[in-house]
Amino acid sequence: MNQISDTDTESFDWSAEYADRRTRLIESMGENDVAVIAAAPEKNRNNDVTYPYRAASDFRYLTGFIEPKAIAIIAPGHAEGEFQLFCRPRHPEQETWVGRRFGIDGARAALGADNAFDIAEFRDRLPGLLDGRAAVHLALGDESGIDRRVLTTLTGMRSQGRGRVPPARIERLDIALHAMRRTKSAAEIACMRRAADISAAAHIAAMQCVRPGMAEYELAATIHHGFEAAGAHWAYPTIVGAGANGCVLHYIENADVINAGNLVLIDAGAEYAGYAGDITRTFPASGCFNTAQRRLYDVVLAANKAALAAAQPGEPANAPHQAAVAVIVDGLIELGLLTGARDDIIANQDYRAFFMHGTSHWLGMDVHDVGDYKENGEWVTLEPGMAFTVEPGLYIPPETENVPAEYLATGIRIEDDVVITDNGCEVLTADVPKEPDAIERLIANAK
Ligand code: GLY
Ligand code: MN
Ligand code: MN
Repeated sequence: MNQISDTDTESFDWSAEYADRRTRLIESMGENDVAVIAAAPEKNRNNDVTYPYRAASDFRYLTGFIEPKAIAIIAPGHAEGEFQLFCRPRHPEQETWVGRRFGIDGARAALGADNAFDIAEFRDRLPGLLDGRAAVHLALGDESGIDRRVLTTLTGMRSQGRGRVPPARIERLDIALHAMRRTKSAAEIACMRRAADISAAAHIAAMQCVRPGMAEYELAATIHHGFEAAGAHWAYPTIVGAGANGCVLHYIENADVINAGNLVLIDAGAEYAGYAGDITRTFPASGCFNTAQRRLYDVVLAANKAALAAAQPGEPANAPHQAAVAVIVDGLIELGLLTGARDDIIANQDYRAFFMHGTSHWLGMDVHDVGDYKENGEWVTLEPGMAFTVEPGLYIPPETENVPAEYLATGIRIEDDVVITDNGCEVLTADVPKEPDAIERLIANAK
């Protein structure tokens, strides 16, 4: 059923949270500007079947509304209200077939909009919303196509005049909005803790049920059961890669049999109340790491811990990656997989043969969340409320040359989710074991 987003923080005043976000957006705009924000389109899967609807993160962030076919207007000082909403009217027959709606009055009341209209009126009302405004703030090139609608309207206002004055400027809405989304509020962090807890419990359940001979998709099913039984859904397609499949970064087929000597890499995260978890753990199918696996695993674990230690307020956003790379390079030299001077290997990025992705990405409503990493050519400084992953890895596909056979067909990643605090960071995903002894105990105790 469609609903205004909520969380288990039941007493929380979500209307005030959304209003505060709109106020902050207005403060970033000119006082005579207007912002037009559209809901995501519904997507067809095949013939009569649509994908389950997921509201666009920007639209949900500013309104809390998760129905399709909706547009929000934020127009300071507008005669018909600062926050206007266009949405679908009630329709008993369609609601019988495809689900309930808030309707115009229901949405206005629930969202605290100053005014609400039938979405069918949007085209005719748009010139009046743009008239006399200095700039219109828009998502450019997003899948809603709202930029084309506004451009067409601006062209019409210029050619047909009728005393209306179109805005002189089009501004990118995402610049201010995505900078806002990069730093999470207390309410958002509460949602992210819950997404992380649900994700963590599902990973533990998967480790507890692994047995050689089962299929990768059986572990994916355990993960998804954990998510859905908690009222969540996957935030991105689940990756369960055994052995060499763990070296394919976005392996989502999950179709192979898990063999006794394999490490199993699971990268899976739940989306709860619109916020994503993103966890990777790597564990032995047999319940025990062999010596070579353990050597590689210890390098990745040390890199994960070094990156977490670098996740501090005041540090540049790339500090965790630099810390992880230093540990990975030292480990690869120690194991004889790379030769040469440490600083040269780092400068030439030779480690990318085995660790080819970044250590961190912002995390929030989108699993790869929005917000710049650099501003004016400098790395963003980490501040309390910024949330991101820490996910070093080592990947050694079977065909890798000049590597001892014992290390081949091995993919390892250890991914945690963190939020920067006043004096360090909170690891949201600490509940899932990552120490090798703890992983072995967990699997042994479940047998
Ligand atoms: N699960 C996607 C990622 O780790 O970035
Ligand atoms: Mn991940
Ligand atoms: Mn990630």
